[in-house]
Amino acid sequence: MPVIKTLARAAKQMLQSPGCGCGTSIVPVRFIGASPRQVASDASFHSVSFSDTDHPRVLITGGLGQLGVGLAKLLRKRFGKNNIILSDIRKPPDNVFHSGPFIYSDILDYKNLHEIVVNNRITWLIHYSALLSAVGEANVRLARSVNITGLHNILDIAAEHGLRLFVPSTIGAFGPTSPRNSTPDLCIQRPRTIYGVSKVHAELMGEYYHYRYGLDFRCLRYPGIISADSQPGGGTTGLFLFLLFPDYAVQIFHDAVKTGKFECNLKPDTRLPMMYIDDCLRATLEILEAPTDTLSMRTYNINAMSFTPEELAQEVHKHMPELQVIYNVDAIRQGIADSWPMNFDDSNARNDWGWKHEYDLPELVTTMLNFLGADSRLASTY
Ligand SMILES: NC(=O)c1ccc[n+]([C@@H]2O[C@H](COP(=O)([O-])OP(=O)(O)OC[C@H]3O[C@@H](n4cnc5c(N)ncnc54)[C@H](O)[C@@H]3O)[C@@H](O)[C@H]2O)c1
Repeated sequence: MPVIKTLARAAKQMLQSPGCGCGTSIVPVRFIGASPRQVASDASFHSVSFSDTDHPRVLITGGLGQLGVGLAKLLRKRFGKNNIILSDIRKPPDNVFHSGPFIYSDILDYKNLHEIVVNNRITWLIHYSALLSAVGEANVRLARSVNITGLHNILDIAAEHGLRLFVPSTIGAFGPTSPRNSTPDLCIQRPRTIYGVSKVHAELMGEYYHYRYGLDFRCLRYPGIISADSQPGGGTTGLFLFLLFPDYAVQIFHDAVKTGKFECNLKPDTRLPMMYIDDCLRATLEILEAPTDTLSMRTYNINAMSFTPEELAQEVHKHMPELQVIYNVDAIRQGIADSWPMNFDDSNARNDWGWKHEYDLPELVTTMLNFLGADSRLASTY
């Protein structure tokens, strides 16, 4: 009987306001023993300033990917260089290493993560480490480990230390049974990739920790993010099969500038939601800074534009009329794209915390072509 009462009390707390507001909140605590690993990079570690307490102290995991370096740059402008620590398991290029604090951190090493958070007095954790759809499908065990076990480490550490935690989700968290045009925040989510499954898991676990332990969990479902300095195709031919999104929307610019020809592996009318990287990074900062009482939910869709390969090609044609586009549809890529949202309903983000995109399709195309140096070529060619 007392057990039933205790369980009933716990369930009641969980359904009540986050963090309980009910006296003592329960925080999961793991045993913390001596760390077998020490933080790797002494130089960058000690370069962190401890004087600036007005700003959040931010750790970005998986910071050397497409989004982390740009986000660090934006946050450093706002909160000061030394308050933002980039981390990853890869070796940083010179320019990144010298642009602010960088440390080695494997999210599967709980004790090391714990040590980093304590030693650097971290207050915000931005969790970018993940194996995305391509790499994930090629190595499901590793994806399960990084995307699910790694997330558990992050959640426990964030809850223990009262951190604000941001974890991005994706349009890949939806599946063929979700409404696709447009996809609301709350609907059926039955993705069929390990990446999508792990992101639904992250959304649910983050929200559970929020309601159960008061964790300040914030999550945005990003659409496909387009940036000029990302590497379309990802390199390995075997993996390339799975890389469809938003790679075609990046590749077209590179090919337009380099060769004037682009082969698209999706049907011309395949509509997908997309966003320019600057909007994505700004949205991330905005949700992190949003006052708690403006957030009616913890996982939001955000969107900027939604276009098909044909619409994108038409826009590029306005700048480069000689661009040739041919369609050579890949059935696997097409199947995955056909299971994802065509358009994202982000009205809750717009209403709650004022999300507003700046880049639409024409602005995106102009920016990408300028960035890739098409302007100088165009001036001489056309
Ligand atoms: N880029 C997009 O279009 C997009 C869209 C939706 C969501 N997202 C999400 O945004 C986040 C960042 O995306 P991205 O495009 O920069 O990813 P990315 O693949 O470019 O980078 C991920 C980083 O995680 C690191 N990593 C892998 N295993 C690790 C481990 N064990 N410990 C620590 N780091 C590890 C990798 O070294 C890599 O630098 C991801 O969570 C992704 O799911 C991205």
